[in-house]
Amino acid sequence: MALKINSLGGYIHEYQKSVNDPEGFWAEIADQFYWRKKWDKVLEWNFEEPNIKWFLNAKFNITENIFERNLFTHADKTAIIFEPNDPKESPQHITYRELYEKVCQFSNVLKAQGIQKGDRVIIYMPMVPEAAVAMLACARVGAVHSVVFAGFSSSALADRIEDCQAKMVLTSDGNFRGAKSIDVKSVVDEAVAKTSTIEKVIVLQRTGIPVTMQEGLDLWWHEAIEGVSTENKAEEMDSEDMLFILYTSGSTGKPKGVVHSCGGYMVYTTYTFQNVFHYNPGDIFWCTADVGWITGHSYIVYGPLISGATTLMFEGVPTYPDAGRFWEVVDKHQVNQFYTAPTAIRALQAFGLEVVQKYQLSSLKVLGSVGEPINEEAWHWYHDHIGKGKCPIVDTWWQTETGGILISPLPGITPTKPSYATLPLPGVQPLIVDNEGRELKGNSVEGNLCIKFPWPSMIRTTYGDHERCRNTYFGNYPGLYFTGDGVKRDEDGYYRILGRVDDVINVSGHRLGTAEVENAINEHPLVIESAVVGYPHDIKGQGIYAYVIAESNANMTDTEDELKQEIILTVSKIIGPIAKPDKIQIVSGLPKTRSGKIMRRILRKVAEGDVSNLGDTSTLLNPEVVDEIKAKAGLA
Ligand code: WTA
Repeated sequence: MALKINSLGGYIHEYQKSVNDPEGFWAEIADQFYWRKKWDKVLEWNFEEPNIKWFLNAKFNITENIFERNLFTHADKTAIIFEPNDPKESPQHITYRELYEKVCQFSNVLKAQGIQKGDRVIIYMPMVPEAAVAMLACARVGAVHSVVFAGFSSSALADRIEDCQAKMVLTSDGNFRGAKSIDVKSVVDEAVAKTSTIEKVIVLQRTGIPVTMQEGLDLWWHEAIEGVSTENKAEEMDSEDMLFILYTSGSTGKPKGVVHSCGGYMVYTTYTFQNVFHYNPGDIFWCTADVGWITGHSYIVYGPLISGATTLMFEGVPTYPDAGRFWEVVDKHQVNQFYTAPTAIRALQAFGLEVVQKYQLSSLKVLGSVGEPINEEAWHWYHDHIGKGKCPIVDTWWQTETGGILISPLPGITPTKPSYATLPLPGVQPLIVDNEGRELKGNSVEGNLCIKFPWPSMIRTTYGDHERCRNTYFGNYPGLYFTGDGVKRDEDGYYRILGRVDDVINVSGHRLGTAEVENAINEHPLVIESAVVGYPHDIKGQGIYAYVIAESNANMTDTEDELKQEIILTVSKIIGPIAKPDKIQIVSGLPKTRSGKIMRRILRKVAEGDVSNLGDTSTLLNPEVVDEIKAKAGLA
């Protein structure tokens, strides 16, 4: 495919074309993919309902674009390099032909086990090649996959099963993470018991820990594939058929199922993969995300594999067996493009340069960053010590809802500035508005980031609740998609993402809703009410600060410390360890307005440790509580 932009002039030209004639622009790109039948119309849209359709009535299967289209040219090329958690375990190199056979075989298994086009399948697996096989087999038979990060708890998993009415779970016995081996199957058992739609659970043997297999429900992966044909004809999909659902946190309520459809997602992730990372044939690409997040979907699995790239899947953690593991893997597999999150960079930076200096890192050509704003210090460290000053950094801004990268430099083409995601990619039309929805034109402005025109891989709906999609993303500023992020456009027209302006916090690059964490905390029997805010954290970007009103001490058998520990456990159990509060403060009341709204601004200030300017507190119902909170936080 010839999708690549090679110069700044080329970028400007393509960008102009994409704005002047979006349909012509995307049709030319989409033409390079394999369709059984091409579209009747490129685009139909409005942001009011919203209704967004790309490549209308085109028929195809995304997996044919990975396999059938490419088998003549690169059947023997490595598709996936698997680097296991334990460096002593041998890596695997899986060719396109081998992956094709595994995907076809597992597609046949899914069908034999009752999965049909449109059915929802939950994937709750470790970072092993079978997770990719599971996703692609779903796509091949037309089932809708919903990958759930295997660190989520059984209740979080049950919520997702329930919400999308899934028929099947694909999972493993356990999961290796650093020195730990984690139970996975037992978590699935609990979730399945709480829900009523799961008919089959297929279990990959990974750690070998004993698990309970329930007759008629549970099936071993290795037994299910035994003797099954490796030939499978892909299901014909419409461009707008659902490809997957991925749950993500928002300001309110439970996580919502972001829906992506087949055609636009294929075109956009592939286009951005090739341009943002400047992938060249033969390069080894490594994205360190988990397939449980959108980054793993778009830039470990779909974008790279549709491009015929070699994509590395890493099962472990950056600090096992030591903090040099990422760099060891880069050298071992001669990685050319490396894509990670600022939180990982900051964590590894803290271990000092000696760890890095043991490695050559000479294969690296492009470094990527994603998931949260990258601070200047981390940017420079990454640039100087990992990229040795010669690798451009692509600071890629995007979201689960956007499907692919929207704002990012093109490596070696767009001049970079630390902490700036720089410029929109072709096809992306950002706009900044103030809180009243007025457009802030020109340069040197700061406000809310919106997008005014559709791009192919944008969210189509939130599963089962279209109104929620409308309200969340299209309801704030009529006619615009609202991202939830604050942004600054500087004097050069460069974009710098400032972070969320809603009640979403970003902890180590993981998105969490404050309401979601509060609801989990409130499940503790002694908790009356809670309020959660984010605060700046050196490594995680943001930490979780929870203010908790507990039942009066008289009835409490626990000390405050014990209570805090129990609250942490409760949150772990209800959401997962990623949502554990970093700090808990037990308070007697929360600052509320006369209408009963918690004044989070004050709580944020206290959590930040800066109470010099708390603003107007006169409208508070209970101003005295502010002094108590300050005093207890040691800030009075
Ligand atoms: C934040 C991850 C600054 C942002 C792909 C966004 C970023 C949220 C960047 C989406 C970046 C992502 N610079 N902030 N380069 N990339 N974000 O859905 O707040 O897990 O709204 O998607 O992460 O997180 P999500």
